Amino acid sequence: MSGVYAGYGGGDVLQGLDLEVAAGAVTCIVGPNGAGKSTVLRTISGLLTPRLGTISFGGRDIAGRHPAELIKAGVVQVPQKNGLFPAMTVAENVLLGGYVRRREKAYLKARLAQLAERFPIIGERGGELAGNLSGGQRRTVEFARALMLEPAMVLLDEPSLGLDPRALGLVGEAVNAMRDGGVTVLIVEQNVRFGLGIAGHGIVMESGRVLMADSAQAILDDPEMGALFLGGAP
Ligand SMILES: Nc1ncnc2c1ncn2[C@@H]1O[C@H](COP(=O)(O)OP(=O)(O)OP(=O)(O)O)[C@@H](O)[C@H]1O
Ligand SMILES: [Mg+2]
Repeated sequence: MSGVYAGYGGGDVLQGLDLEVAAGAVTCIVGPNGAGKSTVLRTISGLLTPRLGTISFGGRDIAGRHPAELIKAGVVQVPQKNGLFPAMTVAENVLLGGYVRRREKAYLKARLAQLAERFPIIGERGGELAGNLSGGQRRTVEFARALMLEPAMVLLDEPSLGLDPRALGLVGEAVNAMRDGGVTVLIVEQNVRFGLGIAGHGIVMESGRVLMADSAQAILDDPEMGALFLGGAP
């Protein structure tokens, strides 16, 4: 995205934001509270229309497109709140993700089988109620459900939220599995170590602008970043 200004009516939150997301890789945006990280995801997924600027995806400008149109174009955001139906099975939950686009039973079953290869939990626990899964397992199933739509790019807002260290390990593995399946992943994280730890590329935002864009490791190693996060938190 280039020169993007976007906000909620009370002025711009994104202040001429320029950023690039590498195809087929994992990129993580970090930055203090209120920096505009979630706002970036909302402008990409079409929930927010930028006042100015362009967002190109697959060679087209997608700024201001309707969210449903963007899903068709291959951009899918995983909802932040736990969206699984606890009284339905794991497999039923994953299948639900596909209905938005295609309803043919044979296609949905084949796609579910493909995803079970990439996410073993779907095969192993597919018949169990989603409500019985651990937090990390549930998030993995949420990712798989989003992948039913065969997205080219998945947006994750704070996937670490509310998870213990073991669950974070599962989420990290699930993100790798998405990337290995050729999906471009853009994550927003407050948990800087976790987010940059699972990403190849990192972007540091502050006050609606990009402060630094580099390899995730280079950002983790930058001494100034520690100061920003300690100084920037409320
Ligand atoms: N729906 C909204 N209406 C009005 N202002 C909003 C809305 N959502 C966010 N904002 C404001 O936009 C700014 C950026 O918010 P955003 O949620 O993008 O930050 P963030 O970097 O994701 O922060 P956090 O790390 O706390 O999630 C904040 O000042 C916030 O108060
Ligand atoms: Mg946020």
